[in-house]
Amino acid sequence: MVRLAPSILSANFANLQGDLDQTKDCGLKMIHIDIMDGTFVPNISFGFKIISDIRDKNDYFFDTHLMIGEPIRYIEDFKKAGSDRITVHYEACKDLRATLKAIRDAGMEVGLTAKPETDPKLLLEYFDQIDLILVMSVRPGFGGQKFMTETKDTMALYRKYIDENNLDIKIEVDGGIKTSNVREVLDLGVDEVVVGSDVFAKDIRAQIMAYHEIFKEYE
Ligand code: DX5
Ligand code: ZN
Repeated sequence: MVRLAPSILSANFANLQGDLDQTKDCGLKMIHIDIMDGTFVPNISFGFKIISDIRDKNDYFFDTHLMIGEPIRYIEDFKKAGSDRITVHYEACKDLRATLKAIRDAGMEVGLTAKPETDPKLLLEYFDQIDLILVMSVRPGFGGQKFMTETKDTMALYRKYIDENNLDIKIEVDGGIKTSNVREVLDLGVDEVVVGSDVFAKDIRAQIMAYHEIFKEYE
């Protein structure tokens, strides 16, 4: 079953729990948490306190996407705040193997991603250490951007590699997804779909239910 990961980046932070309450009772399993440091990407989002403040009231898998330099410095803090999975950027880590290991050792699932312009093949050598490969389908930093069609080649490449090598790794896509184009990535065999503005800037509950209906076509 494909899973939806609504990104709270596009939620109303003045009413964050109110927005999250609208996601309840529609079969949702996880939310996506975008952390930006203003250096690795040209935007700043929020930090640990938001995560820990929403942790107890929301029984979801916390899928945490770190767009920060040298994330190894903060793995323990994200664990403490309540993250269930941490995805780091290939470009952001001096010692990527040590960073992926630190996430695993802290007891979380391990995700890896890269900017759209990075050669996706460079990430393959780390597939022995990860649970999830995230394909960025926009340049990281902002919600509401246009889906970059050329990133579909990356999804196809990872799908083929994972299947041929029989690996237990999920593929997630992040950026520019809408109900109108989500089938394009589902057709390529992605397992998890991050959606920000198309959920939180609209009728939240109706949009989640619309995605779940589309996912049923792929069961
Ligand atoms: C972009 C973030 C995304 C973003 C997606 O840097 O990683 O998770 O919130 O937002 P939409 O769905 O609006 O493109
Ligand atoms: Zn993200």
